[in-house]
Amino acid sequence: MLRVGVLVSGRGSNLQALIDGAESGKLLATIDLVISDNPDAFALERCRKHAVPSEVVLRKDFESREAFEERLAELLKGVDLVVLAGFMRILSPLFLSRFSGRVINIHPSLIPAFQGLDAQRKALEFGVRFSGCTVHLVDESVDGGPVIVQAVVPVLPEDTVQSLSNRILSYEHRILPQTVRWFAEGRIRIEGRKVTVEGARYGTLPVNPEPEVF
Ligand code: GRF
Repeated sequence: MLRVGVLVSGRGSNLQALIDGAESGKLLATIDLVISDNPDAFALERCRKHAVPSEVVLRKDFESREAFEERLAELLKGVDLVVLAGFMRILSPLFLSRFSGRVINIHPSLIPAFQGLDAQRKALEFGVRFSGCTVHLVDESVDGGPVIVQAVVPVLPEDTVQSLSNRILSYEHRILPQTVRWFAEGRIRIEGRKVTVEGARYGTLPVNPEPEVF
């Protein structure tokens, strides 16, 4: 069993997808610890309900970012994989060097499009026809590390930020647990920016518009 630590700041629906996967056995992993930097995060409720160990670590209780991250690293030292699931802070190279190639993030766009906050709103405002979500390795950039998997969803003319976010979220809840399982199976290969998943099949999603003329 892969030992997983999850960092959260809010609602925790992606955490829930991981908890469900762990409970059903499909994740091939255990969630050893959830750390929240927000004491009011609903994610913490989910931990209580499912008897998942959790800790609150507040940035304001530490003098520096380094000291805060030192505490995170100390709590996470027994885990094999660190998952950022709606964690609203950028981790420093110092922290990342401790977990080289073992920190992943879920982002609600097809990176490198719409990195940073409010990705779904940015996609809608830009007018793209397709968006989606990405699980990537975390490096010093913001939402820019090597891509592990992406899922594509259509952006519909009548979409609101909420409806697009929900459509994207339903795929987040699939690709994040899938990625954790790939790590557990030892199938992730990283060569610079190129990440491959041994033996993975990629299907086409039904996202293309019906042809009209061409
Ligand atoms: C998700 O949209 C995720 O892609 C982004 O933050 C949001 C977290 O949602 N990084 P939740 O807390 O997992 O429900």
